[in-house]
Amino acid sequence: MRVRQRNRTSTPSFSTANFCPTLASVSHCIRTISREAPLSRSFDVLILGAGAAGLFCAVEAGNRGRRVAVLEHADRLGKKILISGGGRCNFTNIHTSPDNFISANPHFAKSALARFTPADFLALVQKHRIPYHEKTLGQLFCDHSASDISNMLESECRAAKVQIFLNTRVTEVRRSTEFILCSDSDEFRAPVLVVATGGLSIPKMGATSFGYELARQFGLGIIPTRPALVPLLFNRSDHHRYSELAGVSVEVLASSAGGISFREKMLFTHRGLSGPAILQISSYWKEGQPLHLDLAPDRRATALLRASNRRNLAAARKALQEILPNRLAARWLEFHAPSTYTNPALDAFERELHDWTLTPGATEGYEKAEVTSGGVDTRELSGKSMESRQVPGLFFIGEVVDVTGQLGGFNFQWAWASAAAAGRSL
Ligand code: FDA
Repeated sequence: MRVRQRNRTSTPSFSTANFCPTLASVSHCIRTISREAPLSRSFDVLILGAGAAGLFCAVEAGNRGRRVAVLEHADRLGKKILISGGGRCNFTNIHTSPDNFISANPHFAKSALARFTPADFLALVQKHRIPYHEKTLGQLFCDHSASDISNMLESECRAAKVQIFLNTRVTEVRRSTEFILCSDSDEFRAPVLVVATGGLSIPKMGATSFGYELARQFGLGIIPTRPALVPLLFNRSDHHRYSELAGVSVEVLASSAGGISFREKMLFTHRGLSGPAILQISSYWKEGQPLHLDLAPDRRATALLRASNRRNLAAARKALQEILPNRLAARWLEFHAPSTYTNPALDAFERELHDWTLTPGATEGYEKAEVTSGGVDTRELSGKSMESRQVPGLFFIGEVVDVTGQLGGFNFQWAWASAAAAGRSL
């Protein structure tokens, strides 16, 4: 038995989910014993990561009578749930379909999504009497707070007798006849290990590359990761031209080089572009590629201009201000005014407005990304159970897997669906 880094001074691990007095005293034992000799703890299932996927998988497996431990290195569970959806958690989308997901293997998510639907998760939300509403486009949000969802998962874990060990940093994973996970102070053993460590986005909230490293350690492939659902940065010349528009918002049709389009709001920032349209298209954008923005979908800027007998810059500004925010209209004309006011020149002006082609410099990176695209290669996993095809007993669920949802509650739906697929197969 090897336990590394046992130099902690604070409580190394404790359970929050199972509050029975016996366990409370066991937790107390951990505190006192851990510096003397490591504890070895046996379970049926070990789950790494107490986020959306890990907690939900724990509930499903616990309800099937499995003795489940969830190991989490942060000091509280479900941190990302708490900040999601602007604090209200967009916990699912009633229109979820496999088309809402990006993966190198687009068919992979179908089975899990079909077997655990938004209606299934909604039934749980309703059972807990959590008030919710549909905001737009099938997106369901809590009326009050995202903590309703994390509290619900914690309470389900408690009912399923799941043990959650917070502040537990796993330093080593081995496999002999079963999986052995060594934390700073204890050793956890089980025949099944579920990896639910999420992606790389928002490192300050506890995101790590541990899940990917573990996958590599056991010989699984990784589809290269990159930030997704993330604001984009202007290149140098666009920064110079448009950064003063920070705060301006406009509905656009944003299209990627691959022809995917989203019609939603776009926001100018001091550094680049954000808002739902840009977050959505960012997941399909690759460095060096152009983006195409229709700044006035379904509108004709030159209609008024052509009808009037005054064709000049002032008339063009007036016409443009009818369909764009004033600041944007003025700045657009500074750089894209019609060269003349002939019909062909107005055609070109109109075309440019509907196909602003710009090449972003970069994304804002994992610090600002809502999710990570790429991850554990799904060709290595069973679509029914999320179990590794090569390493029996090893499962990957949630964001660590190469399945990335679009904006709008799809990423949580994938967390629940993949967790249910794994939990119900244990
Ligand atoms: P998640 O990241 O939730 O959990 C992983 C857990 O593993 C974390 O608790 C982490 O601390 C732990 N961990 C990592 N490494 C570890 C290690 N080595 N040892 C132990 N524990 C470890 N999606 C959506 O559908 N609707 C929404 O409204 C939003 N909103 C939103 C806002 C913001 C700001 C962000 C950053 C993201 C969202 N998302 C979202 C995305 C959503 O939060 C995300 O897809 C899910 O939380 C993924 O769930 P997982 O359980 O896979 O990972």
